[in-house]
Amino acid sequence: MREAPPTVEDVRAFWEAQPLWTGESRHAPGSPEFFAEHTRVIVEDGFAGRLDPRVFPRPGNREAVLDLGCGPGFWTVELARLGCGRVVGADLAENALALARRRCEIDGVVAEFSRQNAERLDFANASFSHVNCQGVIHHTPDTAACVREIARVLRPGGTASVSVYYRNFLLRWWPVLRPAGVVLARMGAGLKGRGRETLFVEKDADEIVRLYDGRANPVGKSYSRREFVALLAPHFVVEETFLHFFPGRALPFRLPPAAHRLLDRRAGFLIYAILTKR
Ligand SMILES: C[S@@+](CC[C@H](N)C(=O)[O-])C[C@H]1O[C@@H](n2cnc3c(N)ncnc32)[C@H](O)[C@@H]1O
Repeated sequence: MREAPPTVEDVRAFWEAQPLWTGESRHAPGSPEFFAEHTRVIVEDGFAGRLDPRVFPRPGNREAVLDLGCGPGFWTVELARLGCGRVVGADLAENALALARRRCEIDGVVAEFSRQNAERLDFANASFSHVNCQGVIHHTPDTAACVREIARVLRPGGTASVSVYYRNFLLRWWPVLRPAGVVLARMGAGLKGRGRETLFVEKDADEIVRLYDGRANPVGKSYSRREFVALLAPHFVVEETFLHFFPGRALPFRLPPAAHRLLDRRAGFLIYAILTKR
């Protein structure tokens, strides 16, 4: 018998049990050290050392900002620090919201929090000037519904910054590249915690994407640039797309910074889109 497809409740249960960065961190979840380490890893592995200013809302779109799928609050804090008028962090998982709330307290910034399903948001039409949604909608069964909802809660002229897993050339060519992955695994490559130690020997590239967030992660999808733009285009003008995120920490050696920057831009595992509501 075929297994039933994963539901939003399965997704919630997973992230409730394993909020982002728990399981990998050396520090107690919610401690200042936990957040400092997470920030360092996002900057280093997410952006090869420097956050990309294109991800943030333009000055005219900062009055009411939703950080959708806020997880442990990295972007919520950054948006509040930027001086956005009202910042709302929303997530399916209470434990993620608790971490994000704690991170804001530690960093001395103000944000509101709300438990929400991105596929069916409770917010009224046109509630926000900008939606930030990084690494979220590829984790939920109905990704197209999330895109529709992001557009609905934006005011006319509203903007969004959205990222999903990108099927980069490493994933596209994985059947050919896997022997190199096996060698790297023997040298110690892999991510620690959450059952991800075998990442580099997986046969199925789609499994690598799902496994990146943990063996029990119910949903993880990757997109080509064309597929991502097709998903967004019914609701948004796609102003720009670009890549970032090369998890150098999974390698058994330290990447030279220039090589890391090149891989981040050319072989990033996340594709970002900068959007204006149609
Ligand atoms: C990989 S984490 C990303 C967290 C954060 N955006 C970041 O970039 O650090 C994915 C987050 O999306 C949340 N999520 C997954 N599906 C969701 C949904 N349908 N509605 C709201 N949040 C969801 C999870 O609970 C989790 O906190």
